Formats: sequence, C-alpha cells, structure tokens
Amino acid sequence: MDERTLFRAAELAVYYLRRMPDLPVREEATLEELRAALRVPLNDAPLDPVAVVEELVRAAEPGIVHEQSPRYFGFVIGGSLDAAIAADWLTSAWDQNAGGYPVGPSAAVVEEAIGEWLLDLLGLPPESSVGLTTGCQMASFACLAAARNRKLAETGWNVESDGLFGAPPLRMIAGAHAHTTVFAALRMLGLGSNRTEIVATDDQGRMSPGALARILREAEGPAIVIAQAGEVNTGAIDPLGPIADAAHEYGAWLHVDGAFGLWAAASARLRPQVEGVERADSWATDGHKWLNVPYDCGFAIVRDHEAQRAALSSLAGAEYIPPIEHGERYNAEWVPEFSRRARGFPVYAAIRSLGRRGIADLVERCCGCAHLMASALAETEGAEVLNEIVLNQVLVRFTRDGRNVSDEVLRAIQQDGTCWMSGTVWDGEPAVRISVSNWRTTEDDIRQSAEAIERCLRQPVSAR
Ligand SMILES: Cc1ncc(COP(=O)(O)O)c(C=O)c1O
Repeated sequence: MDERTLFRAAELAVYYLRRMPDLPVREEATLEELRAALRVPLNDAPLDPVAVVEELVRAAEPGIVHEQSPRYFGFVIGGSLDAAIAADWLTSAWDQNAGGYPVGPSAAVVEEAIGEWLLDLLGLPPESSVGLTTGCQMASFACLAAARNRKLAETGWNVESDGLFGAPPLRMIAGAHAHTTVFAALRMLGLGSNRTEIVATDDQGRMSPGALARILREAEGPAIVIAQAGEVNTGAIDPLGPIADAAHEYGAWLHVDGAFGLWAAASARLRPQVEGVERADSWATDGHKWLNVPYDCGFAIVRDHEAQRAALSSLAGAEYIPPIEHGERYNAEWVPEFSRRARGFPVYAAIRSLGRRGIADLVERCCGCAHLMASALAETEGAEVLNEIVLNQVLVRFTRDGRNVSDEVLRAIQQDGTCWMSGTVWDGEPAVRISVSNWRTTEDDIRQSAEAIERCLRQPVSAR
C-alpha cells in the first residue's frame, strides 16, 4: 500500500475545504483551458500515484464550481457534512459491493438502520421498504416501476413475467409543474413521456386537487398519480392530503416526488406543509440535496414492500448468490442496480452527526436564510420576488428601465463570484432561482450575497 498517496489526498482535500469558503464560487478556467489541462495524451508508463493526485488537483481545481460553498445557491445542491465526507472516504477505502449481505454485511445493516430512521424522520409508514439509489430520478424510477407493476397486476396483467407487450393501458397523471426527471423515469419504464395527463397548477406550481379529481373521474382504468413536494423553482408543495383523497377515491397509486421538499417533514414547524404525505403509496427523495451527503444518493420508498421487491429484485434465478437465510438485507432487491456503491455509510454518518434535532435545524436554517434573502431582495429596486417563500427557494426577476434583465444580471452575479445561482424561465420570462440547501450557509453569507446581487444589478452593462 502506498500510504503517501492516501495521506496526501486527505491533506489536499482538507486544504481545499479550508480555503473553499473564500474562493470565488464559480469555476475559474474556461472549457478550452480545462481540455488543455485534462485531455492529455494517454501515458504508456505508470506514473507515481502521489504525482497523479497532485496533478489532478492542479488540473481539475480551476474547473471546480464550489458547490460546497456556503454561497452556492444553484439548482438544488446540498453541501456535504464533515462526518458524511469522512464516511465517504471510508466507503472508498472499504470498497464494499453493497448489493447484498454476503458481500457487504455492514453496508446491508447500515441500510436497514437508515431505512428505519428515514421513515421515522419523514413520518412515513413504518412498513415501507427503502432503497438507496443514485438520486431522485432513479428513486422515482424505482417507485414507479413498483407502481406500474402493481396497478397492472390488479387488472390481471403480470409485467414482471410478460412485460408490457399487449398490456392494458395505464393512466399516468401529474401536475403541470412535475419535475423533468419524472418524465424521464416514465420514458425509461416504457410508459412514454408524452402520455401523461397533466393537471392544472396554481401560480406557485401546486397541483389543483379539484382538477385532479375531475381528470380521475373522466376515465376508467388503473392510474398512477404523481404529486410533488418541492417545486424546483418556488419550493411549493402540492396539497398532499386532498390529492391523496382524490387518488384513493379512484383507486390510483399516489407517488410523491419529494427530492428536497419531503424534508419539510423532518421539522415540526414545517411538517404541516406536507400534511397527508404519509397517505401516499411511494416517495422519492434525495440524500445529496437537503441531507447534505456527498453525491450521489437518493431514496426510493414504497409502502407495499412486496411490490418494490417484485419489480426490482435481481436475485431470482441467480444460483451463485447465497440465499437469504435469516432475513438479511440484499440491497439489490430494492433498487435497479445489482452491484452498488455502499452509499449508506455517509448517510449513516450524516444522520448520526446531526441527530433528529440537527436535521430539523438544518432544514429550518436554510428556510430562514431563504426568507432573509427574499426580504433583502424585496427592498432592492429592480428585484421582484416572484414566489411565496415556503421552503428554501427564492425566485426573483430583475428589471432595469422596465426591461427584464434577469439573464444579464445572472451572468454578472456568476462572474462576480461572491455567490452562484442559476436561471430559469417562469411564466415564459427569464428569472433567477436561489436555493439554500447547504449546512454551511449563515445569515452573513446571505447578506454578503444580497449585496453582491445589488451591486450586479446596479452595474451598467458597459462596466463589465
Ligand atoms: C422536484 C425534483 N425531483 C427530482 C429531481 C431530480 O433529482 P436527482 O438529480 O437527484 O435525480 C430534482 C432535482 O433538482 C427535483 O428538484
């Protein structure tokens, strides 16, 4: 073993994390510079591992967007807790295949523990099964596979053995603001991305339960309703209780895409916003967003665990795999993958290091920072906050002399480097989204960022 390489990498990582909060948040290198630095000719001879690591840092760091920064507000991207980063290093050192108990006993039991904790933290039915996926898209994929198979089984069709050839039609119903990854999951499941019946939403992107009930009433047949906790721009949460009423009245499976919004359930103060969430049939959420574990990690949660197992398990017929004898967990039963990274270790460390109170506090602090940012922007001439601040998202439009200059101001903000945020289109017009999802973000970071935003808004175009 070459300990020098491992210690050097740990040293460089710690040195990076120490400097990172003070670095300009954006990347510093251009695409051309990165290609020149990284797309080097393939070497014939082996290289010294320490030199490789040092060279990688030198070449890659200019192209790192500091997503760990307390002033990174792009997309919905969490930071990483120290305990989770450390456990992630150990995950690589242990290099367990988390596919099943015999190849990763601790990885399996850790996922049992995480499953119980998550159901408790999120207030979901304790009988549900939990699988760890790469992210929320794959979590929705896993949940919707279970939903599809179960709903078609109720009509007498066995997708698991016969596939979809000649299967009865299945209705998919989602809100007009459903996340793009839901449609990707449906496409991969052979359900098509264009067959979904779309339910009207309000001005924050929340599904209308009345419109849902009308759509359900209009036609017959097995149906899956896909609701959302946390619209990607506004953070708005669908009215899950009334949606569950409608879905269950018509016998539909209710799936909730709660990539980040489901974490509102971890806070007693925010939990009323997701009231009724526990009445759904499946839930997809992320660890790498609000739980602040390193990429990648999502959770696929299904109330009817037999439906999840039947849809996803890859154990059947594999005679070389030791059989389950004492109820031991095979992670490969709950997710699309067979072999898998033991991404449960960082999750375990994150949850243990925060505890129930720390998780509630993390979620509430991010929401508090979003409120503070919205208040600062509301007082800034030329900035208009477009959303109700219900969670950690702020949606803002910038105007100068009556002209929408959101794109221009966004570029200036990104270039300025104090903070980083991303753009969107809202009501057909460019807008800017600010997502506070990092445990490191403080009120001071928000004040610094709000000042930088104002500076960029004031700056005449010619000054850049
Ligand atoms: C509501 C919602 N669903 C799903 C996703 C996809 O999550 P992932 O990138 O982890 O697959 C996102 C990502 O931002 C999201 O906001």
